[in-house]
Amino acid sequence: MTKGVFITFEGGEGTGKSTQLRLLENHLKSINIPVIATREPGGTSAGELIRELLVNGKTNRWSPLTETLLHYASRYEHITNLIQPAILSGQWILCDRYTDSTFAYQGFAQGVDLKIINQLNKIITSQLNPNLTIILDLPIEIGLKRAEKRGIGETRYEKMGRPFHQTLREAFLEIANNNPERCVVINADEKKEVISNRIINLVNERYRLSYSEKEG
Ligand code: TMP
Repeated sequence: MTKGVFITFEGGEGTGKSTQLRLLENHLKSINIPVIATREPGGTSAGELIRELLVNGKTNRWSPLTETLLHYASRYEHITNLIQPAILSGQWILCDRYTDSTFAYQGFAQGVDLKIINQLNKIITSQLNPNLTIILDLPIEIGLKRAEKRGIGETRYEKMGRPFHQTLREAFLEIANNNPERCVVINADEKKEVISNRIINLVNERYRLSYSEKEG
């Protein structure tokens, strides 16, 4: 059985991850690649319940370690019930956020010891790491404005203040720097079509996709 490809999208608030994920999903479907788009926190019905607890309410609602455990609880459901079976059956997974977000948000920005996150990561993910991580990078002022305009109501993290968001941006760049084979940083301060073409070309080249897939 061929294994699928696991791609994650990461970045700060309002960087356009979800839009870019959809555009890549459409492209892959157009060349007959079996693909599932999903997200964290969430992605399963249990995970979506946990998401509600994380993205709504007061910023100090949880202590940072509890918050980390909630993200990993959602992730465990997601990996066990959706990501792992899909990858093993040869499907591609496009996931809006994954473990890098926990390192950036709960580790770098909320101060949870990175060693603890590393340990949780080993236990919960069983080394199920993305094959490719696309990190969308944008000055925080632009991202926060976009997120505010979008107004989907899940504002708990958006409200965490500028220093928090600046730390996040730097954290994602550091993660990319430390994982050059897995991570690709894309400038998100461009038109969405330009960004999407860049991502599609990257994926086509990396996985040697061509229109012949259409015939397969
Ligand atoms: P989204 O707005 O990109 O859908 O993500 C929901 C929020 O959850 C976002 O503000 C970042 C946050 N988050 C974490 O703090 N840690 C994590 O591990 C994940 C996956 C998301």
